Amino acid sequence: MEHISVLLEESTELLLGNGGRFYVDCTVGGGGHTKRILEKNPDAFVIGIDQDEEALNFAEEKLKDFEGRFSLYQANFVDLDTVLREEGVPRVDGFLFDLGMSMYQLRGDRGFSFQENSPLDMRMDRRNGRTAYQVVNEYSLEKLIDVFKRFGEERFSGRIAKAIVSYRRKKPIETSKELADLVAESVPPAYRYGRIHPATKVFQAIRIEVNRELEILEEALRKTLNYLGKGGRLVVISFHSLEDRIVKRFMKENQEVLRILTKKPIVPSDSEVNFNPAARSAKLRAGECIG
Ligand SMILES: C[S@@+](CC[C@H](N)C(=O)[O-])C[C@H]1O[C@@H](n2cnc3c(N)ncnc32)[C@H](O)[C@@H]1O
Repeated sequence: MEHISVLLEESTELLLGNGGRFYVDCTVGGGGHTKRILEKNPDAFVIGIDQDEEALNFAEEKLKDFEGRFSLYQANFVDLDTVLREEGVPRVDGFLFDLGMSMYQLRGDRGFSFQENSPLDMRMDRRNGRTAYQVVNEYSLEKLIDVFKRFGEERFSGRIAKAIVSYRRKKPIETSKELADLVAESVPPAYRYGRIHPATKVFQAIRIEVNRELEILEEALRKTLNYLGKGGRLVVISFHSLEDRIVKRFMKENQEVLRILTKKPIVPSDSEVNFNPAARSAKLRAGECIG
């Protein structure tokens, strides 16, 4: 299952701006955006980061015609400073973040999706500790409610958390399907059969908790400012309101160094959404360093 890159032309256009040499694709994934950067700017060199080893294998394959113009690192983008030190690059012309997950992660056997039946893992970097299994089976009732509220904005957080705690007294919750069914049964019937699966927000919340996604994003955005020279660009594609809020606030708070290029976020066209429904919630924001 190949990942279809979202807002590909819009994001690379903004990233490349007036032209430059060193770009960091902080979420290289299947390599779609990096490939487009290398095609559009023949002088570009891309440092690609992804915490998922599997993603890097896909990227390597996709970029094989661009040998010598990119390097790939398995790392969390919050460690972009370590990567740049290792690469020996002190100034960057553009950082791209295309947040969220690749399609092959969703379709895979790592418990990210309520549509699959697989063990509850959800770690993007499998070298790290805490799994979704531990969150679901070991967190207290109060902690589960807090995670579902904060990271899922789930209105039935209390009911769902209570159902989980009561279920796991009998046996641990082991698979994504077991969790999805349990969530569906614990919400009022009217919400059970809607357009959006009733477990969508709970799965999002657990994934954010497991991977500490929001804290990491904020810290990584801050670090980019240490590397962007005058005219350097920061481009971020987010997929839910919690992420978008962080990006929006970050750009607003740093306006003395970052000129906002997108007064309103750029969203995918109808034809992109028709072709790739996974793009429907994407929002792109960009800024340019004013030195
Ligand atoms: C939407 S995909 C990127 C797809 C890519 N732009 C393309 O066109 O093929 C997001 C990727 O970001 C990675 N990712 C998410 N959070 C990360 C983090 N904190 N550090 C490094 N990689 C991360 C995921 O593993 C996933 O492969």
